[in-house]
This record gives sequence, C-alpha cells and structure tokens, in this order.
Amino acid sequence: MRHVTRDNLTEVFAEYLGEQTDPRVREILTVLAQHLHDFAREVNLTHEEWRKGLEFVEWAGRITTPERNEFVLLSDVLGLSSLVDMLHSRPDATSSSVLGPFHVSNPPPLAIGGDMKGDFEGIILLVEGHVRDTAGNPIAGATLDIWQTAPNGMYSSQDPDQDIHSFHGLMKADHNGRYAFTTVRPVSYTVPDDGPVGEILRAAGRHPWRPSHLHFIVQAPGHRSLVTEVFPDDDPYLDEDTVFGVRADLVIHYTDHQPQDFPHGFALSGKVTERFLRAEFDLVLAKV
Ligand code: BEZ
Ligand code: FE
Repeated sequence: MRHVTRDNLTEVFAEYLGEQTDPRVREILTVLAQHLHDFAREVNLTHEEWRKGLEFVEWAGRITTPERNEFVLLSDVLGLSSLVDMLHSRPDATSSSVLGPFHVSNPPPLAIGGDMKGDFEGIILLVEGHVRDTAGNPIAGATLDIWQTAPNGMYSSQDPDQDIHSFHGLMKADHNGRYAFTTVRPVSYTVPDDGPVGEILRAAGRHPWRPSHLHFIVQAPGHRSLVTEVFPDDDPYLDEDTVFGVRADLVIHYTDHQPQDFPHGFALSGKVTERFLRAEFDLVLAKV
C-alpha cells in the first residue's frame, strides 16, 4: 500500500502480516494495533506525548532487575494483571490474585501448626483452613507456599535486616486437606513508587498502598495451581488497592481471642500470653 492514511493504517497493518503467521499471533497483533491506533486517534496523541511515553518505557527498562520488575508493576497498577487473572478464574474455585514480585524460591518447610512470627513484634494471627476441590472434597497433601511482609511493611527480599526466608513457608496439607499456622498480623504497605510507575500514580492522584494480605500459591496434582492472597475485612485500603487485587471471596475476618483460648497442636501452644487473632479460610482448586 503506497497510500497510507490515518484512517486506513490499521487495515494496512493487518495486510502486512505474513500468510504463515500463527492465527493466535495474528489475532493478538491485529487487535493490539487496532486498539493502539484507535487510542492515538481518540486522544489525538501529540509527538511530545508519544516521546514521553517512550521515555517512560526506557526508564522502566533501565531500573528493571531480577528483583524489581517495573513492567510487571506497571501492568499491576493499570489493572491488566488483575484483568488477566479474572478472565481465567473458574467461578467455582477460589479467585486468583496478583503474585507480586516478592515471592522467594525454595521457601523453608513449615509444619502444620508451625509458626512464622518468630521473634518479630506484633499481634499473633492464627490462620487455618482446608484445601478442597470444587465438589468440596479435601485435597490431601496439597502444598501451600505462604508469604507476607514483616511488621515493618517490607518483604524479606526488600529488607537487608531480614533473613531471606523470614515470613515465607512451604506447608503440606494433611490427609483432610487441613493447613494451619501462626504468624504476625500483616500490615498495609506501599508498592515501590520511586520509579516511573510511582510517577504515573502521582500524576493520576493515586496512592501506592495495598491493603494488608497473606499470599498463597496452592498446588496439587490434577488441579490448577492457585496464586492468590487474602485480606482482612477491616483494612483501610480494602476498597482502594493500588493493584486491584481484592475480590469478594478473598476477604476474611479476624476474630479476637484471649491467650487462654489459644488451641493445642501449634508450635506456640502454651506460650501465648497476649490476646491473639484467628482467621479461617478454605482454598478451593479447580481440576485441570
Ligand atoms: C505484592 O502483593 O507483593 C505486590 C503485588 C503487586 C505489586 C507489588 C507488590
Ligand atoms: Fe504482597
């Protein structure tokens, strides 16, 4: 085509695709170009704005490392990560939610009833529940990879003062699919906002806070892996998570208890001297 115009450009783009192009690649590239072109036409994108956008992408590339991926964070704050999660969630299974960048590989084993709080300050939280399939049957031996921030709002990989494995644990559910552990009550925290994504948040008048949460990756043979997180119903940021991770079925309630009511069968049994919180949450996996 030698007569490319602002109106036929999208069609011309599609015509240039080779005949051997994989059909799914063709669909994605064609629709991506269509939306990009429509976007530029609709907002009447100026050279200056286009250049600023490219500089933004360059900046994101410069600061991205294996520990900090600014592109994933951009996808998170634009809602794209959550949308992809929701497009592929099974309605009868537990909703998935953002993985985030702070999961560590090779988490230490955590026995059922084990403790992640250690010597950290903060109110004790006891979390327990079952891993089930969508028919309600327990999934014996499911693995739960669990992680959260320390009371200072930092994950171990962000904080040189923490052991890399603090507040990370790998648990194997028992024959009834049961899991249980103690930890410290997680706190709300901010996503990294000292890079280009922070600039977008500020330009948009948005804050960088996430409501406090516990992360889980739950896996069992024959079932879809579940990446999710749970949030307490009293967190002030529950309705304004900067990465759009909250789903109705992921909101839990902490109940308040006196130390004498702390149950048997936990690493901390007999050692708790202050009030503690308790939460129950079942994780439901769909079949593959
Ligand atoms: C997190 O929950 O760990 C997280 C998710 C998205 C962006 C940053 C952090
Ligand atoms: Fe997190």
